[in-house]
Amino acid sequence: MNNFSFRNPTKLIFGKGQLETLNQELPNHCQKILLVYGGGSIKKNGLYDEVKEKLDQKGVTVFELAGVEPNPRLSTVHKGVEICKREEIDFILAVGGGSVIDCVKAISVGAEYDGDVWEIITRKASPSKAVPFGTVLTLAATGSEMNPSSVVTNWETKEKIGWSSPITYPQFSILDPTYTFSVPKDQTIYGIVDIMSHILEQYFHHIPNTPINDGMCESLLRTVIETAPKLIDDLENYEYRETILLSGTMALIGVLSMGSRGDWATHNIEHAVSAVTDIPHGGGLAIIFPEWMKLVVDEKVERFKQLAERVWDVETAGKSDREIALEGIEKLQQFWISLGAPSKLADYKIDQSKIEEMTEKAMTRGEFGHFKRLNKEDVTAILTNSL
Ligand code: NZQ
Ligand code: ZN
Repeated sequence: MNNFSFRNPTKLIFGKGQLETLNQELPNHCQKILLVYGGGSIKKNGLYDEVKEKLDQKGVTVFELAGVEPNPRLSTVHKGVEICKREEIDFILAVGGGSVIDCVKAISVGAEYDGDVWEIITRKASPSKAVPFGTVLTLAATGSEMNPSSVVTNWETKEKIGWSSPITYPQFSILDPTYTFSVPKDQTIYGIVDIMSHILEQYFHHIPNTPINDGMCESLLRTVIETAPKLIDDLENYEYRETILLSGTMALIGVLSMGSRGDWATHNIEHAVSAVTDIPHGGGLAIIFPEWMKLVVDEKVERFKQLAERVWDVETAGKSDREIALEGIEKLQQFWISLGAPSKLADYKIDQSKIEEMTEKAMTRGEFGHFKRLNKEDVTAILTNSL
């Protein structure tokens, strides 16, 4: 392992009825809260009313920013920053999926910054202060509820950029599996693909002696693989929702990368695809990840073999390491297809004509990927093989 330091300051509050703790988690001094949410799912499932009732009991003044888009946009972040500055907001509450939380992270630093928050997102400036915020998560996927990362899309320039700062961890995150019952089947599938992808991104590295990380990754993957098909058939099952919700948090809390460093090239390519085409993140990953794997399998075939054996139970007798590795990749893709995930860019009506633009967006900051460095030709090949 590499040397490392680890700190995760977010308080995780997990389980049925935990919204009851909301008011005691809000800072005592806070008087003006900005409540941020998405396109209306929390109004349909009743969560909005419950949160509003709690905030009214607390006696705080509530301002609202509604309509955060999936793949949240810079223009929406700007609206939130403007409200925070104008109203001197002292706490932000994100109620929604990863997009709402990511938007709030950008608002929190933008509100304390004199320039345009895009400068922070594009790493031209580093934030020194943030309006504190908490979250009530409604969708198992990104892990944003307990990590400092945020992904924001500038729709004008067609750039989707991930960024993070040590000051953008949520103060607390409330996760009640019941609020994920209403997540539709497609979004549930995308969430599962995203969770598995986060684990896989961190599984592929060249750092020696990482048996604890490997074991945690493999165990999480096996749990998700066992639970996901049951959940897809029974969307309001508390136990399945509970398992997937905690898997999502565990997958990107930072523990799986202790002493190692994941690859993250697939995420970079997917962000470029979403920036150009606005497809769901998990849908894009389901298409691109197997193609990335096929392209880089020879980089360290024994790692792929280990995954195939320990997670996919691939029979090894009479097969070469490479054959075993490839069978594992095939099993991953077939598993995602069996859940109902897309497997080709054509499923989103994306054709050859977009490859150049998507490649260019992915290469904005040069070559990338820690397991294997990808150049322009590699990215073009992965995207072309994904058509
Ligand atoms: O907007 P509403 O009406 O709330 O509907 C949302 C949205 O349409 C709906 N939804 C959420 N909770 C629901 C629900 N519908 C019914 N019942 C509920 N309980 O689901 C749709 C998708 O929501 P979104 O927040 O976009 O999904 P997700 O959590 O997958 O977030 C995706 C975004 O996160 C980024 C992605 O790139 C994408 O922009 N990521 C963030 C990461 C991070 N911060 O660490 C890491 C990830 O790799 C990822 O890149
Ligand atoms: Zn992801």
